[in-house]
Amino acid sequence: MAISACGTAYLAGLIGKYWFERYARLTVEIDVASEFRYREIPLSPQSAALFISQSGETADTLASLRYCKERGLKIGAIVNACESTIAREADAVFPILAGPEIGVASTKAFTCQLAVLAALAIGAARARGTVTEDELQALVRSLAEVPRVMGQVLNSIQPEIEFLSRELSKCRDVLYLGRGTSFPLAMEGALKLKEISYIHAEGYAAGELKHGPIALIDDNMPVIVIAPHDRFFDKTVSNMQEVAARGGRIILITDEKGAAASKLNTMHTLVLPAVDEIIAPMIFSLPIQLLAYHTALFMGTDVDQPRNLAKSVTVE
Ligand code: M6R
Repeated sequence: MAISACGTAYLAGLIGKYWFERYARLTVEIDVASEFRYREIPLSPQSAALFISQSGETADTLASLRYCKERGLKIGAIVNACESTIAREADAVFPILAGPEIGVASTKAFTCQLAVLAALAIGAARARGTVTEDELQALVRSLAEVPRVMGQVLNSIQPEIEFLSRELSKCRDVLYLGRGTSFPLAMEGALKLKEISYIHAEGYAAGELKHGPIALIDDNMPVIVIAPHDRFFDKTVSNMQEVAARGGRIILITDEKGAAASKLNTMHTLVLPAVDEIIAPMIFSLPIQLLAYHTALFMGTDVDQPRNLAKSVTVE
């Protein structure tokens, strides 16, 4: 299967790739839409292609959709605007039902795109027989938990987010790290922060730290580590040790188990409820989005209409 999209929608797709591959054992080719159609990827008409777009009008995503359609692929579209061109040209439409998203920064569309991608991956796993009935039920139960856990998180983290955002607003650069599905989330955190606060931010796979970005670490550099207590946690902790040893200021976003297991001096550890791996990206995206929002408020930037950006990018 192929997935293509732009910006935040692409990062949702990247998380979807992990899910389709892990649960449905389906290989996923993914790229940003502006590269996808020029790469001359060998595409089989037996394949499906999935396009993700809040607006359904993004020029590069639409052009990639048409590129795949001309080659006979079955087209699915994950959209918020169901009357949009992308929705109209797709064979199957998967609405995210987020309601109108007015601010330029994609927030609720991102979490709703993730919910739809998770549901599709679980559905594909069921159809392909790659998970047992018990596993399937557990996955569906976890998905159904998302609204309740989100409410719990939103009600509890506000004071810590404001404290951290005040600190971030004094910084020039911020590094985000994560492994597994927390890696695209790290890139999403960096995208959101730079988009609305204009602070330079990078999101990296934690394992890539020692291949370059570690050179940036000093006591001026906050490093936001997204690390639920999952299969990758111990590896991420060893990356955090590398940051701590160089004086980097770590903001660890984890869960209760992770907080107990990390045993590292952090500038701050933000503790979220422990959740199943499949819903962690949706839950962990909340502090990521709120950090960007409150940092932008402290910076005095326009959080709804950031400079140089449009809500819908209809030119290539
Ligand atoms: O409407 P789309 O989802 O196709 O838009 C794609 C990107 O332009 C969009 O996600 C952009 O990256 C956001 N402003 C990021 O917050």
